[in-house]
Formats: sequence, structure tokens, C-alpha cells
Amino acid sequence: MKTKSFWTCSGCGNRQTRWTGQCSLCQEWNCMEEETEVLQVKTPRPLLPNATSSKPVRLHEIRENKSDRFATGLQEVDRALGSGIVPGSLTLIGGDPGIGKSTLALQIAQAMSKKGPVLYICGEESLEQVALRARRLNVSSQEILFCGETEYSKIANLMTEIQPILTIIDSIQVIYRGDIPSSPGSVTQVRECASSLMQTAKNLNAATLLVGHVTKSGDIAGPRILEHLVDTVLYFEGDRHLNLRLLRVMKNRFGPTDEIAVFQMGENGLEQVLNPSQLFLETRSIGSAGSVIIPTIEGSRPLLIEAQALVTDTFFATPSRRSAGIDANRLALLLAVSEKRCQMRLGQCDVFASVTGGIKITEPAADLGILIAITSSFTNKPLDPKTIVVGEVGLGGEVRAVRRMEARLKEAHHLGFSRAIIPKQNYSALKKKNELGLELIPVQWVDEALSEVQ
Ligand code: TYD
Ligand code: MG
Repeated sequence: MKTKSFWTCSGCGNRQTRWTGQCSLCQEWNCMEEETEVLQVKTPRPLLPNATSSKPVRLHEIRENKSDRFATGLQEVDRALGSGIVPGSLTLIGGDPGIGKSTLALQIAQAMSKKGPVLYICGEESLEQVALRARRLNVSSQEILFCGETEYSKIANLMTEIQPILTIIDSIQVIYRGDIPSSPGSVTQVRECASSLMQTAKNLNAATLLVGHVTKSGDIAGPRILEHLVDTVLYFEGDRHLNLRLLRVMKNRFGPTDEIAVFQMGENGLEQVLNPSQLFLETRSIGSAGSVIIPTIEGSRPLLIEAQALVTDTFFATPSRRSAGIDANRLALLLAVSEKRCQMRLGQCDVFASVTGGIKITEPAADLGILIAITSSFTNKPLDPKTIVVGEVGLGGEVRAVRRMEARLKEAHHLGFSRAIIPKQNYSALKKKNELGLELIPVQWVDEALSEVQ
């Protein structure tokens, strides 16, 4: 048997014939892994003269199967996925070790087992460990079949035999194909096992859930190709010290992306949080300087969160700027705008900014709120506790419009807020201003908004 070896990047899947310290494609360091491939004698495929090729069709001739989805039974997961799991689909769930991936998978198994058999491949832990966890979670369904098998062809046989409606692979990194020489968890094995599983699942029209590990930099281990291959990519994240967990939809071929589902890790596993805004505001320090409530939009859902800032005199030559849950570059930009456009002298101050609850905000609509929090801490003057702030800040100091203003304002009203500082453009576009139940303060420039706390 003739073999050929080459080097594959564990980050992006780039292949090259020689080892290098850095991947020539994604520029990552120390990520090249050696792989061996068995060379097969290639015979040219015979061309069949009468072979039928698939016939192109018009759009209206393609049938849609909307009713085919399986609701997982966990309301939050279903909403995030767009009303359940699609049969024959492949879903990847990634996250740090110990964040609760196996717990979530087991809870989904329990909920789905009401509709048919579920096959749970636990290659990572022993059956005893899984049983211990299942007992803690009160999982008692007779329809979940556990198996410690990790060789792909045996798993495929089990799937054909049992015909499960859902197969859970915990985790894809321990599954291997016996006919491929590289070790489990290597780029080739992960890629080949995932694509073989996909074929099997599609043939049986059964849904598959793959659990995947993440690397230090936070990507799902194994090549990026895994993310391209699967239909849905979910990330399970959260602050391990807090009990809050977020399931984020990064890719979804059957529904909306950027959705989130919120959970709380408790004694008996994950509990769904149906009203996350309330949870985020529970620990709020009312009346203290440097705290601002921002209505953000996560996926399709408005979410009220608290941004906090602390500005203190620095004792070093270079002031420090730290942030948690807020992009450091965005913070630097906001500080520059406040220096230049609002004459705030922060050059001699340390600035710390964070979002409570361990959540990350990525949308620029939070800009104005963060800037007011910083100013409020600088002037030591608290913002009115019943006021929310939303708006994107431009480099010229202008406040820009944000999307879905009405949904944000409704959520704020629902949670008892009475005033809202919003971009002027949004104010002009709002239709039923009086019916929102909030006093609206339109602002065009940053300094108009900052005068609230100066
Ligand atoms: P686990 O699902 O094993 O994580 P992963 O598969 O992502 O590695 O979750 C492990 C953590 O969850 C562990 O630190 C204990 C905690 N946990 C609870 O707090 N309550 C529970 O009911 C369970 C099952 C786990
Ligand atoms: Mg696990």
C-alpha cells in the first residue's frame, strides 16, 4: 500500500506538502499537522451513454416540507433554530469544555425521545458517567439508547438498525474511521467522519447533532470545513462563574441566524430563561454613576442589558483601557470621539467598561449608551434610572439611526422604563409615538445626549 504524507492546518484545513511554522493561508502559528493518505490506483470513470442526469425544474415545481420539523420540546432551542430540528439535517454545537454541551444534548434527547428513538453516542465519557449525569437531570426515557462505540461504520450500522429520529455524537473529535490511518481528532478524521455521518443521516432522513470542541482561540476544533459542511452551527457560551448560558446560532440553513437562547445552569441541569431582560436587570445598582441600560437586539429579540463604566485617575504613564463584553477597538473609538467632539479629557484616566451578565454586545447600537456610562462615571453624575439609551455613534460625533427601534422601545416600556434617548432619525421615522408609553428624547449629536449627565 502506497501512502503519501502532507501537512494540514488544523484551523482552516489548508493542505501543503511541507511543514511550516505558520499556515500560509490563515497565518496561524504552530497549527500544521501531519496527515497520511493511502494512495488508491485511480481508474477513469466510464462514461455511460444512457445515464439519466437530474432534470432542471422551475421554482414552483419544488415542494416545500414545512411540517416536517421536529420540535425539540425545549421552547428556547426551538425558537432559536426556527421551530425545531429538520430531519436529515446536521447540527454542530461547539463550546468550551465544561460549559454544558453534554447536558444540553441530554436534555434535547429527553425531550425528543417522546417522538421516537434517540441514539446517544457517548465516546467521550464512560456509560457510567453519562448515567450519573442523566440521573441528576431526571432523564428517564426508555427511548434513548446509549452506546460507547466510536468507530464510524459501527455507528452507521446502529443508525440503520435503530432508525433513530435523532442521533447525538458526543463528540465528533473522538469518532474515527477505521479505513483512514490518521488518529481520532485529526483534521482528516474529523472531516471524513462528519461527511460520512452526513451521508448516512441524509439517507435515513434522521437528524444528527454533533458536539464539537473549541480551540484556544474559540473556533471549533478541526478545520473550518466542518462549519461549511453542517447545516446549522450553534455556539454554547457564557461566563462559567455565573450560571448564565447563551446558545448562539452562527449559521442556519433553515432559519434565522444570530438568534440566541438563554439558559441558567442549575442543580438539575439547564433551565430555560424565558424573560432574559429581567434577569440581566435583577442585580442592577440603581442610582449609581456609570450605569446605563441599553436595549439591544439579539437575533429577533430585544434584550435590555446594563453597561457599566468606571473612570479613575491613572497612576501610570500610560492609562489603561479595559473592557469586558465590549469590543476593545469600539471602546477606543468612543473614547476618541468623546475627547475630540465633547472636550472630555480622559488622557489621564483609566477607563473600564463592561456589560453585566457575561453577555457580549456586538451591535453598534450600544455606542451611545456606553459613551454616556463613561461620561457619567467621569462626572460622577448618575443617569436617571428610568431612562434607556440607544444609538450608533459616528466618527464625527453624530448619532446614527439603529434598526428595529419600536421593538426596543416596547421591551423597555414592558420592563417599566419611562424615558428613552434615541437618534433623531429614528424619532422622525417612528409612527405611533404617543402609544409607546415612553417620553422620547431625540438627539442628533453626541454632546446633546451627554448633557444628561454633565
Ligand atoms: P457538561 O455538560 O459535562 O459540559 P461539556 O459537555 O460542555 O464539557 O457540563 C459540565 C458542567 O455543568 C459541570 O461543571 C457541572 C455543571 N452541571 C451543573 O451545574 N448542573 C447539572 O445538573 C449538571 C448535569 C452539570
Ligand atoms: Mg461533554
